[in-house]
Amino acid sequence: MSAVVAAPPALAAEGITSGYSETPVVRDVSLAVARGEIVTIIGPNGAGKSTLLKTIFGFLRARTGRVRVDGADVTGLPPERLVRRGLAFVPQTDNIFASLSVRENLAMGGFTREDGVEARTEWVLQVFPVLADRLGERAGRLSGGQRQTLALARALMLEPSILLLDEPSASLSPVMVESVFANIVEINRRGTAVLMIEQNARQALAISHRGYVLTNGQNRLEGPAAELLASDEVRRLYLGE
Ligand SMILES: Nc1ncnc2c1ncn2[C@@H]1O[C@H](COP(=O)(O)OP(=O)(O)OP(=O)(O)O)[C@@H](O)[C@H]1O
Ligand SMILES: [Mg+2]
Repeated sequence: MSAVVAAPPALAAEGITSGYSETPVVRDVSLAVARGEIVTIIGPNGAGKSTLLKTIFGFLRARTGRVRVDGADVTGLPPERLVRRGLAFVPQTDNIFASLSVRENLAMGGFTREDGVEARTEWVLQVFPVLADRLGERAGRLSGGQRQTLALARALMLEPSILLLDEPSASLSPVMVESVFANIVEINRRGTAVLMIEQNARQALAISHRGYVLTNGQNRLEGPAAELLASDEVRRLYLGE
């Protein structure tokens, strides 16, 4: 008889507690992202969503708990080592170099990889053709939506297997929000698992496989995105219905 062994999740956070002072901000939070999934975290302002992502990516120390990539314990590894394990992170703000050109931003995104920055730039420009016309432009001159596109494109230069996104659609016009979500679907379709935080909860869940609700630094709800979208509690408290 052969045992069927389930593949470990691409990314797992297990019982994470972290924060900035003695009092923790994130308390005993667990989540997982399977290969090929888009997973969205929603929750009120100050719930600890960004803190959780920063802890997963090694910017903050986990006081308790484990982070695993493909089952391997990576707890406490610094961001540059996590990048080598296939993670990329687009923070909520300051996610591009405004004084550098679009092309230079892309090259910086790929700097940890020794092979073919040129080839990967070509590939990323196929996903984001809007950037192809603006390669020589200073990134600081781009519109908000184009900057967000550039931030995503920079992360893609690493060819990550798991992409962490902190509010990729924040402060964009409705048309640009649509475009950013379409980009995320395309990135996922090409094989990258996505874990994102979003305030545009309805639209984010609409393109996600599963979701988590965090409140007050703790797991509150989780489930298939369609179930969360249909839940009375989620609709009332987090979708403003
Ligand atoms: N660098 C920091 N130093 C100290 N406290 C911080 C820091 N960043 C966040 N906090 C505090 O941690 C708590 C959680 O913040 P966090 O940014 O993780 O929330 P969030 O869920 O991402 O909120 P938002 O939806 O507003 O982005 C808040 O009380 C916040 O004031
Ligand atoms: Mg945040």
